[in-house]
Amino acid sequence: MPVVALISGRGSNMQALLDAGIPLAAVISNRADAKGLAIAAARDVPTAVVEHRAYATREAFDAALAAEIDRYAPRLVVLAGFMRILTPRFVERYAGRLMNIHPSLLPDFPGLDTHARALAAGAKRHGCTVHFVTSELDHGPIVIQAEVPVLPGDTADALEARVLREEHVIYPRAVKWFLDGRLDLRDGKVRVKGGDAQLVTAPR
Ligand code: GRF
Repeated sequence: MPVVALISGRGSNMQALLDAGIPLAAVISNRADAKGLAIAAARDVPTAVVEHRAYATREAFDAALAAEIDRYAPRLVVLAGFMRILTPRFVERYAGRLMNIHPSLLPDFPGLDTHARALAAGAKRHGCTVHFVTSELDHGPIVIQAEVPVLPGDTADALEARVLREEHVIYPRAVKWFLDGRLDLRDGKVRVKGGDAQLVTAPR
């Protein structure tokens, strides 16, 4: 089956992919306590744990992770709340077939705590981004973004919930485009064959 998902925790994006009918060959976590593992197992998706703490270096962990991924020979590897920085060697190995979802409108707010940072910056709009992974953290060619409004009185939690709803919409869409051969990645830019919108705005 064509897609392997890497998770570290809750697994709601992975679940959204399954709900959308994306065929996951396996779900791999770097943490044995990731909640998403039980969700995958309940849906008969094979799961595996490659504990990052068991490896002395990032390189050794990434090599073990790649070996586990490659057992399934996936066409695409999706990071779905996978909270480890990957080595350039790993990223190269899966170049053009490694996707991530990030909870901000990149290039704004790469890194952690994006919702609190968007509020602190007085942003009027916020959202999420699916992108191909390059060795620069939370950069890389953008496949699709969803924009949500920042509303008066918003807390980071309220904003997170509003963004997460859109993550669950755009990640399956991006993966389907990939599997349908509709993504053209050229000169660091992604074009969708057929011209579907790569920026969607959630209704208020
Ligand atoms: C999501 O907000 C995703 O954008 C970010 O980490 C969170 C993971 O949530 N990379 P989940 O594990 O998919 O529920």
